[in-house]
This record gives sequence, C-alpha cells and structure tokens, in this order.
Amino acid sequence: MKLWGGRFKEDQNDVMKKFNDSIGFDNRLYSVDIQGSLAYAEALHLAGLLTSKENISIQQGLGKIRDEFDTGEFEIKAGDEDIHTAVERRLFELIGKTAGKLHTGRSRNDQVALDLRLFIMEEIKLIKHLLEELQQKLIEKANAHINVIMPGFTHLQPAQPILFSHWLMSFFWMFERDKARLDDILARTAVSPLGSGALAGNPFDIDRSKIAEELGMDAISMNSLDAVSDRDFVAEILFANSLIAVHISHLAEDIILFSNPAFNYLQIGEAYSTGSSLMPQKRNPDSMELARGKSGRIISALVNLLIVLKGLPSTYNKDLQEDKEALFDSVDNLKLTLSVVVGVIESLIIFPEKMSAHLNEAMLATDLADYLVNQGVPFREAHQKVGELIRYTEENSVSLSEIPSRVLQNIAIEFEDDIEKIIDFNKAINKKDGVGGTAPKTVIKQIELAKEILGD
Ligand code: ARG
Repeated sequence: MKLWGGRFKEDQNDVMKKFNDSIGFDNRLYSVDIQGSLAYAEALHLAGLLTSKENISIQQGLGKIRDEFDTGEFEIKAGDEDIHTAVERRLFELIGKTAGKLHTGRSRNDQVALDLRLFIMEEIKLIKHLLEELQQKLIEKANAHINVIMPGFTHLQPAQPILFSHWLMSFFWMFERDKARLDDILARTAVSPLGSGALAGNPFDIDRSKIAEELGMDAISMNSLDAVSDRDFVAEILFANSLIAVHISHLAEDIILFSNPAFNYLQIGEAYSTGSSLMPQKRNPDSMELARGKSGRIISALVNLLIVLKGLPSTYNKDLQEDKEALFDSVDNLKLTLSVVVGVIESLIIFPEKMSAHLNEAMLATDLADYLVNQGVPFREAHQKVGELIRYTEENSVSLSEIPSRVLQNIAIEFEDDIEKIIDFNKAINKKDGVGGTAPKTVIKQIELAKEILGD
C-alpha cells in the first residue's frame, strides 16, 4: 500500500519503483527520522492535534521501531519507498489508525531536510573527534623527536634545515582549521526546517522553536520555500570533508616520499604496509596511497552535489534525493581514512641519521647571506655574493666550509674568519626563533599551545 496512492488507478511500473525508491540507502537515517518524529508528535500534542493517549501511543510505537532497527529486526517491505514511509507503515502496523495523525501538516520534504541536518550534526561530532585523535598523535610524535633535524624542501628541492617535529606540527594546524570550519558549518546546520510543510508552511500552529530546542538545534528556518530545498549545509560538509581529504592527501604524499629508500627518513609500521605478490623485498605504503586516493572520491561527492543543485527550480525537486549517497560516501570514507591515518602516524619509525645524511651545506646559503646582512650588506647584494660562493663550490667540488678565506674575502670583504660558525645546521635552526619558526624552543612553545587547544 502506497502512502500517496489515493489518486492513482494504476500500479507503479517495476523499474520506476526501483528508480524512485531510496529505502536501499536512506534507511540509515532511521534514528534521526524517529528523533524528528518524536519531537513532531510532541508538538502536535501541544497544538491540540493529538490527545495525550495518542501522543504516548505514537511515542511508544516509534520507540519500538527504533529498537527493531537497532537490533536488525526491522523488516523492509515492498511498498516502503523511503525511510519515512517505512517508519510510518510500521507505526500503523503497531498502533493502528492513530499512526495516520503523525504526518499532520508535515511533508517528507521538511522531514527529509530535518533528517539530513540531524545526521550531519552527528557526523560533524564524529569527524571532529577523529581529527582530534590525529592531532594528538602528531603532538606525541613531535614530542618524541623534538630535536631531530631534517632537510626542508620547496619545489621538492633541498631548501633549508628544519625540525622534523616542526614538519609534523604543520599538519596539526591544518586539522585545527578543519575543525573550526566544521564548527562554522554546525551553526548553519543546526537550524530546524520542520514546520515548512511541502513548501508553503504549517497551518496547525505548532511551536517550531520548541521542536528545534528539543532536537538540540539553535534556530528555525525563516522561509519555507528555502527550507525544503536548502542543501547548502550538505555542500558545506562535503567541502569541509574535501579539504580534510586534501590535507590528508598532502600528509600521505610526504610520508610516501620520505619512506622511499632514496630518502628513508621514516618507515610506516608493518601493520599499515603491504607486500608485493611478486617481489618479495617490497614494503609498500598502501595505507598512504589509499588515503591519497580517497581524496578523489571525497572531492567528487562535493562536485556531484553541486551539479545536482545547479539549475533546480524553487523548492523541493526529486533531484534532491541524489544528495544522500554522495553524503554517505563522503563521511564514511573520510572517517575510515582518518582512523587509518591515526594508526599510521602512531606507527611511524624515524631514522634521524638518514635525515642528517641529506643535509647539505648549500642549505645554509641563506644563513651566509644573513651573516653579510648583519655586517651591513644589503640583502640583494648579499644574495648575489653568496650565489657566487655556491658557483665556486660547484665548480671546484668543495663545500661552503672548505672555501679558502682569500676566496671568501675576494667575493665579499665583510667575510671574517668566524664564518665556519655560521655553517652549522643547529645554529641555522636555533636562529629561526620568531613565532612560527623552526627553532626548538619555538616548536616546544607551539606544541604547548597545541596541547592547550586540545585541552591537555
Ligand atoms: N526520499 C525523498 C528524498 O530523499 C524524500 C522526500 C520525498 N518527497 C516527495 N515529495 N516525494 O528526498
């Protein structure tokens, strides 16, 4: 029996039914759907549309349905088009005709909009929690290897020495911005559309604010036409997820590179690596490759939704049913990826000696230019002169510290005998002690602040 069958003479075409039904994927909204219905029944009661007895009967029936879903006993039946019709059908079986009163003034259009909002509110909590776990692991690793020096790269070319802990902590701040973005989105998601009806509003004087409050939402929507079609909050979480995935992908790429034998700065624990079916020696970073790859589908979910939304006429259109699978795929894959990345960071084995073997005195060229600046040489000129020194080292196959002092002074009279002191990786790092720099004491402060943010 269809809930909307009154005006139809013919049965629905089988393929059309398959095409139209969303129960196959939206059944996972059962808990939020029931949560919304419980609040709506209460509002109908307060508006005098349900007696206390009817209200209690509906509340109990819905509670029973939730139990059935929780335990896997709920039986999807042929006529169940979506989660909303399935719950209503079952409620009718359990409590009889009173079930038919629950949908008074409500449409699946405002109902599904509410369900999605409640679902996303929950998901935001879970994603934030995983991000915090990851941040925690980054802090722990950074703390454990606080003074390890590694080459820093720009354009993937050796640039300047940095602390390994500083590199790790750079990701902490990306994930911190991601959490703040999720908080912003939460504020726009926790707005109740219930009471918007199919498109025009609700004629039964229900207390919309009270429903919102009951559902832990901060506000109610102000325009029913907008409320039934607004999926901005879905697009927003899909974007936030995409950017998180991009950050993870970037972390994954660094780890893949640093674990390559040509670098060998670190190794992913065996629990997160895989072998080759052909080459016995292989230890592949599949966990990180998949994390990098997952970003593709997570970004595609955002693009998918934006294309569905683009060009729709006002209010509810069935196209909007296509919002859900993109959303579910995005949150599921992101959470799975985050859980794996948490484990990978914890499992990382670090090889500081391999990192220092890659340190090259040329990476201190800027420090030499800074030395000349301190002697009063304008930076541009200093840059030029140190460039000449680098050319000399290349042409004569020597390192900076091996340049004879007469050559040095020939290039810049300001070079004194103390320049070997400048050619020192630790010194170069210690000097970068302005806020946000890579000096150990600055990184320690950074970690303290990070811990404070996480409430430790
Ligand atoms: N299954 C639908 C969806 O997910 C629910 C809303 C249906 N509304 C309607 N008027 N047919 O969007």
